[in-house]
Amino acid sequence: MIINSNNSKMLPESEIMENVHRFFATEVALITTNGSKYGPNVMAVEWTMQIAYDPILIAIFIHDSPTYWNIQETNVFAVNMASEEQSELVNIAGGYSGIEIQKLTIPNTFDTYPSKYIDVPMIKNCTVNAECKVKAIQTFADHIMVVGEVVRATFDEKELPLIYTRGSYRRLSRQKISGGRKRIVVSHSHFVEFKAMSYGQFILKAAVAVIRDENNKLLLITHQSFGNFLMLPMVSVKRGSNYVDTLHKYLETIGIITEIESILGIERVILMSNYPDGQTEDKKESKISRELRANFISFSCKMKSMNEENRYLRKWLDKAPRNTLLRTLVNCRIR
Ligand SMILES: Cc1cc2nc3c(=O)[nH]c(=O)nc-3n(C[C@H](O)[C@H](O)[C@H](O)COP(=O)(O)O)c2cc1C
Repeated sequence: MIINSNNSKMLPESEIMENVHRFFATEVALITTNGSKYGPNVMAVEWTMQIAYDPILIAIFIHDSPTYWNIQETNVFAVNMASEEQSELVNIAGGYSGIEIQKLTIPNTFDTYPSKYIDVPMIKNCTVNAECKVKAIQTFADHIMVVGEVVRATFDEKELPLIYTRGSYRRLSRQKISGGRKRIVVSHSHFVEFKAMSYGQFILKAAVAVIRDENNKLLLITHQSFGNFLMLPMVSVKRGSNYVDTLHKYLETIGIITEIESILGIERVILMSNYPDGQTEDKKESKISRELRANFISFSCKMKSMNEENRYLRKWLDKAPRNTLLRTLVNCRIR
């Protein structure tokens, strides 16, 4: 069945509601528990996720079944994230209840090892194994959220997670999605300035003013750090600061009063220094030090007034600038 946002209106609402969950993509956890009535047990739980770093907390959403009853009795459980070779184990753990059979005793099926801090079997060949002590339990509608604090965890970098979506198990693609950043070469001296503007952050985040006059001419200035080179007025924005306020204040300090109208777009680029290759001994180091990720948000601004006494040179351009970076920032689109 295909349900998408275009044709979903044609399906009865109840059918859409019943199928929404299929369109999420999840991993699947094999939740192991132990208890006096049902003994060691395993259940498939796709609704599993880490919800805090410090301490590490993992939430699982389960229904009223032997897994939950074991947890209620012992206050512990283990999370074993299934790897892509373990779909059969997931089918068994999810297809039978501990009321029906002792799933973990099926020969040649679940390969287990003892836990360190909780009396629950752990499953081998998973991507992540975590021993958890119950921190909170809360019922939401037809499911029970159990939050566990992780007291011990291991991961296996060689294993890849099993993905469950639209009713079937899938492998993760080996292909990474590329960052999609355009590469722009700038002179080494400008590169050094951009790097300084980034406050040592991994990504330079800046607000750019695209200021036009009534004849649609574009304003360039000699930016304080870029020598005599004509640039768009721009300022780096610290994390958590408001972009419009920061740009307003910056423009004021250089004697330009504008009305910041709207966001023109965002350009996520990699700035590359034109410094020749091989100048540094360490190749990796030299590559890193010649590349800088930069996110520029351009704002369209209407000029209100300009303090003529300001020491920065200004120039009104009729045509779009020829420089690649400037042209990109002036013409940037929202992607
Ligand atoms: C792929 C898959 C994912 C599942 N995810 C969940 C889940 O997130 N929460 C849940 O309550 N049941 C989930 N189930 C169903 C339980 O695993 C199933 O009811 C199981 O028999 C319960 O085990 P128990 O009765 O031994 O505790 C899933 C089943 C499968 C096959």
